[in-house]
Amino acid sequence: MEAVAEAVNPAIGDKIMTKYFVAGGAGFIGSHLSTNLLADTTSTVVIFDNFSSGREWHIAAIRNDPRLTVVRGEISDGELLSRSMTGCDTVFHFASNPDIAKAVTQPDVDFWEGTYLTQQIVEAMRKTTPRTLIYASGSGIYGDVGRLEVKENHAPLVPISTYGASKLAGEALIASYCHMFDFKAAVFRFANVIGPHQTHGVVYDFVRRLRKDPSRLAILGDGTQSKSYIHVSDVVSAMRLIEMKHISRFDAFNVATLDYLMVKDIVDMTLKAMCLEKTERCFGTQSRGWKGDIPIVRFDTAKIRALGWKNVYTCREAMAKTIDDIIADEDAGRFDIR
Ligand SMILES: NC(=O)c1ccc[n+]([C@@H]2O[C@H](COP(=O)([O-])OP(=O)(O)OC[C@H]3O[C@@H](n4cnc5c(N)ncnc54)[C@H](O)[C@@H]3O)[C@@H](O)[C@H]2O)c1
Repeated sequence: MEAVAEAVNPAIGDKIMTKYFVAGGAGFIGSHLSTNLLADTTSTVVIFDNFSSGREWHIAAIRNDPRLTVVRGEISDGELLSRSMTGCDTVFHFASNPDIAKAVTQPDVDFWEGTYLTQQIVEAMRKTTPRTLIYASGSGIYGDVGRLEVKENHAPLVPISTYGASKLAGEALIASYCHMFDFKAAVFRFANVIGPHQTHGVVYDFVRRLRKDPSRLAILGDGTQSKSYIHVSDVVSAMRLIEMKHISRFDAFNVATLDYLMVKDIVDMTLKAMCLEKTERCFGTQSRGWKGDIPIVRFDTAKIRALGWKNVYTCREAMAKTIDDIIADEDAGRFDIR
């Protein structure tokens, strides 16, 4: 893809600015984080994205901010990456394959669109200016531990998907670069993140399938999968709290709600919101939705809560709000992908 650098920052007076680099900043979580960063008048932001799942409309609200630079490029292009990162202080890294099930047919996808991209990021940091990294890892690193509420220091870490493996490899690379090249980093193991701009995930799939065929809804798994779904605004507040006040050499944080939802509850909530309660529900027979899916996910979030973070929305509140937002996005014809 041809790289296009746009809207290079003008002078911002005498203020001491923090310069952020957001890899994957046009994506779901990255676009909310970038918007939050720019709400702070002492921030400038470089969004670096290949727009594979990122979208222009995700960043429409900040697109004309003179403190924003958007670079349309591939993270595999190390030269462009380093050039774009030069001058920045802190990197947020969100770019990866978002589709856990994709590896069933493309087993190396999480290496090339996960581990390799993280290697590119830390290497570009080593060669340039940023010394702080915030990384979007995931609960997949813990593997399938049933109902155990995992703490950040849980061991052994045995991922059961290549997605989980690539997140764990990313964390390991980052930890080693922190110690060898004097970076500081925080890695975040999020629950399922939901909210506006979402481009994948269970509610997104349900709404889109029901729009195609409102008479029946095929559900991956038997509906008993039970997980935490956290609103994207709560995830952004967690990352900002750590990045601004509690950054250390290397640290990991679970970020999740205290409550959980089953997939069959999400089915009921979605059908109700779409006035489709009579739709046929076609559940699968296995508790696992797909190979690599972890049907029960539980987190211990005491570590970040002790630092003052708490989620504003419960799982059910976040889900209800997200279902409405996704329906509104569908109605507005914003989903041009997948
Ligand atoms: N959404 C969740 O529930 C969740 C949970 C835990 C962890 N995470 C992690 O958080 C991160 C962000 O997730 P998201 O849901 O916002 O996904 P997303 O797909 O919306 O965002 C990823 C962004 O990275 C960009 N990108 C991907 N490959 C790239 C490349 N090679 N070069 C440049 N840009 C590239 C995409 O265009 C997109 O804008 C991911 O790493 C994901 O694994 C997400």
